[in-house]
Order: sequence, then structure tokens, then C-alpha cells
Amino acid sequence: MASVLVVGSGLAGLTAAVRATDAGHDVTLVTKAALPEGNTRHAQGGIAAALFPDDSVDTHILDTLRAGAGLCDPAAVRVLCAEGPARVRDLIRFGVDFDSDDSGLTRGLEAAHSRSRVLHAGGDATGAAIEAALVATVRTRADARPAGTPRTAGIGTLRILEHTMLTDLVVLDGRVVGATVVGAGLDKLDQRGLDHTETGLDRLDHRVLDADAVILATGGAGSLYRHTTNPSIATGDGVAAAWRAGASVADLEFYQFHPTALAIPGTPLVSEAVRGEGAVLRNAQGERFLLGVHPDAELGPRDVVARAIAREMAGQGGEPVLLDATGLGRELLESRFPTITAACLAAGLDWALEPIPVAPAAHYWMGGIVTDIWGRSSLPGLYAVGEAARTGAHGANRLASNSLLEAAVFADRAVRALSLPEPLAPASSSEFDGDFARHAALAVPRSGVSAEMSVEFDGGSTSGGPNGGFSREALQGLMWESAGVLRSGEGLAAAAVTLAGWARPETGPGASVRAHEDANLLDLARITVQAALAREESRGAHHRADFPSVRAELAYPLAWALGGDRAT
Ligand code: SIN
Repeated sequence: MASVLVVGSGLAGLTAAVRATDAGHDVTLVTKAALPEGNTRHAQGGIAAALFPDDSVDTHILDTLRAGAGLCDPAAVRVLCAEGPARVRDLIRFGVDFDSDDSGLTRGLEAAHSRSRVLHAGGDATGAAIEAALVATVRTRADARPAGTPRTAGIGTLRILEHTMLTDLVVLDGRVVGATVVGAGLDKLDQRGLDHTETGLDRLDHRVLDADAVILATGGAGSLYRHTTNPSIATGDGVAAAWRAGASVADLEFYQFHPTALAIPGTPLVSEAVRGEGAVLRNAQGERFLLGVHPDAELGPRDVVARAIAREMAGQGGEPVLLDATGLGRELLESRFPTITAACLAAGLDWALEPIPVAPAAHYWMGGIVTDIWGRSSLPGLYAVGEAARTGAHGANRLASNSLLEAAVFADRAVRALSLPEPLAPASSSEFDGDFARHAALAVPRSGVSAEMSVEFDGGSTSGGPNGGFSREALQGLMWESAGVLRSGEGLAAAAVTLAGWARPETGPGASVRAHEDANLLDLARITVQAALAREESRGAHHRADFPSVRAELAYPLAWALGGDRAT
């Protein structure tokens, strides 16, 4: 039995917390906002799994590998697709009410899937349904087994700390032994097991939480970009902390841009499932420009469609393209896509009658903390699951609706791994034979961008935004322009210099959550740009104008390790 710190409360974190409690571990679940916040609840399209008679695990594997553009870890893909159906059945047991009709579960088609295999709930509210069921499950466990409860029947305790942000990992003798956090109400921890912290982050306490194992499920970092489908709390806190602690991170250059976010600020994405039902994309002249781009046109791989849209937009003065769903009929649009219908109406659009404006937006990070197929990172005691992890299941381009599946599958495995012998360092694990054995390990010291540039990260003098220094908005704009859907070596190199010149926000005692987030974003932007510069080819979501082709000899992940001053 172990004390386990789970950070993050999307599908991955909630699954890990429930599984670990049930396995007899004493769990503390830390989450930056309220329990149901985060990326999972915004997921629309659904969760992909080979559950139907005309499908197979092997077909799902092939589709996933094909989308991943030669960079998937085949072992991780096999685990994902083979264990996916069982984890979906678990979700049903947890209370997720996937849509069904008289013949059973209903399923949608999404880009680059050769079969319809995407389960959905509430039409296009799949993530919300999953999140609600798991939040209820976790709260029930926490109420029944609060911290301090005497151990019975091998069930562990569960305490939940909401509005509590991970700031760094604590490493002792090369092993992760806890984390530093900042949050509201932490002072009450000494008096009792603190359940649902209800207050905001206006009064902050700083604490070290000790743990035998830390499972990071902190999600991605859509806030790196000006346009994103992610909520603003997606600031990559776990990936940044893991990198600072010395864990290996990889594939950072592969950020997936969803092709069709509604091009109106504050509105959600428009699920790929809409195109799966037959909606088409048109340019300002009303032409279906994807017909000449990919044999599957609007259902081509996500990276291909996003790039085609970005180019089309550039050719029409930056104007969004149009998603034409008028052929689907009002009844189908309203019943199958109630969330999108409501968003359109709120924006004054009737998508049953008129095409709607859409544009790409940062959506999902394929890169992250390097793990093996048990969620184990390169640091003993540290596990990563969900979008924060780089399991290798997605390669250079994630197949639609594989993300919820990955979260469920690998969170379950990470908890099972807690009972395995001491984790192996990924680079020496036999599970990394094959693709991963050829990974290139690159060191990025915090004190310098790269030897060639010889610019000190913290040596710059600019800060504050309005005068050209760091601000979150300036960073997001820079990343969008330079490390977005279309990139070039020249633009990336210039961005690297700018990022190096920005002073890192102060994160000492008393620093605000916003300052911690900004520091994380700056750390991540710097290594992401370095990764994009280092990959001198175009592959999957990473497309460089100066290296427009795939280079077969570069079909391995680039792993980034921190050189020098590790967090302790
Ligand atoms: C969508 O519904 O288009 C998003 C699904 C995904 O990102 O996997």
C-alpha cells in the first residue's frame, strides 16, 4: 500500500484516483480548479474503441499507426487498442450513458478511421457525460473513505484538494517523493482530511505533499497558443514541472491543431463527427477546396485538413473557411449535436440554414512526459497519464477520439504499475525496443537555449508585455505565428531568440497562480520551439516550409532532458 498523489481531474486523473483507492492506496487528488473543470468535459466527438462486429483491434491499430505518421510506438498502440474496449465497459459501469438505439450502442465516424467506432454520449457532449460520471464516483469514494479513516478490507482513503496547483516535484536521491503545491485551505490539512475545498485561490497556502508515487494527469497546454479549443487552465503545469525535475519529455514539436473551431471567440470546437456525418468545407468562393488535397477530402487526417484550411485562409486574407452542414438537416443537427447547435444559436448562427465560419485551433499535445506502456516516467516514483504523457500511442498526429481512450487505458495501467517492481528508466526498458530505442536525447539547460544561440533564458531584460516583453498574450501570439499550423526554420529561430529574451515570471514565495502558470508556459514554449527547430522535416502535425517533406531517417522521437539545475 502506498500514498499516491494524483494531480489533475480529467478522465485520466479521476480514473487513476478511483483505481488507486480501490487498490488499497491512500490517495490525495489535487486539481487546480474545481473537480469537473479541465479538458475532458469539453470533448465532443467521443471515445474510439473496437467494439463492433465489423471492426477489430488490428484495424484500430492500423488506423492509429497510419495517422501517427511513422512515429507511434507500436507497443503503446497495441495496448491502447487492445485494452480500450474493456476500459469503455468500465466507463459504462461507472455510469456513463453512451448513446444507443434499439440495436445497441450508436457510433460515429471521424477523420482517418476506416470504421465507424466512435461512441458518444448526449450527442456531442461525450466528455461532459464521462466527467460527470467519474466526478460522482470520486466524490462517493472520498465521502466514504476520507483521509484518516482506519483501513478496512484493502480499500484506501481518498481526499480531494480542489483549487490547488502543482508547482514543482520534489526529488530526493533521484526519486520523486512528493510535490509542492499552492492552493486555498491547505492549512486545514493538519487538522483533518480536507474534502472538497470550496474557496477560490484568493488566499494561498504553500505546502509540500509527500507521496510514495506521483501520478501526473495535468493535461495539455493549449494556453501556449492564441487560438485553442482548451480551457484557459490548460497551461501544461505537469509537463513543465516534470521537465524541471529532470524527467524526459518528448515529441513536443507535435501539437495537434483541430481543423474546425468555430471562428468566434469564446465558442467551442465543431466536432469532426459533423464532417463524419457529411458536412463539407468551403472557401470564400463556396468551393470544396479539400477535394484536390486528399482522397478522403474533409475526412482526411486532421493535420492535412488543418493545413489545407490554414493555407486557404491565408489565400483569402485570413478569413475563416466555412463548414457547410446544411445538407444534414435540422433534425439531425439538433439531436446529434445539441452543444454545437446551442453555441451557433448563441452566436447568432443557424447552421441548419447557413454555413458557419471555422478555423484551426490548438487542440491536443502529442508530446509530453515520456512514459513506458505502464505510465512510468524516466524518474522513479513519477507516472504520467492522459495528455500530459507521451506514451507513443499518438505519434506525430493523434487519431480522432483516441485521447479519451488513452486516458482511460493508461491511467488504469499506471495504477497497476504501482504494484510492479521498481520502475525502469524508459530508455533502458525492453518496452522501448523498436522506435523508442532510437530516440535522440537532447539536453536543454534552463540557463541557455542552445549552444549555437548562446542566449541566456533568464538573462533578458524585457518583461511586462506592452513594451514588447513577456505577457501571456504576447507568448500566445508568438507561438501561434511561429510554432503554429505552418512553421519555418526562420520563424522558429526568431521566436527562440524572443522567448530567450523574456524574463521568466517570478515564482518564489507569494507568487500567484497566474505567475506559476506563466512561468510554465514560458518554459514549455522555449523547449517546444527548440524541438520544432530540431526536427528538420515535415511529419504529422509538424510542418516546416523549409523542410516540406518527411525524412525517413528522422522517424524517431526527440526526447528533451533538462541539463543542470534540477528542481529539488
Ligand atoms: C472532435 O470531436 O472533433 C474532437 C475529437 C478529438 O479530438 O479526438
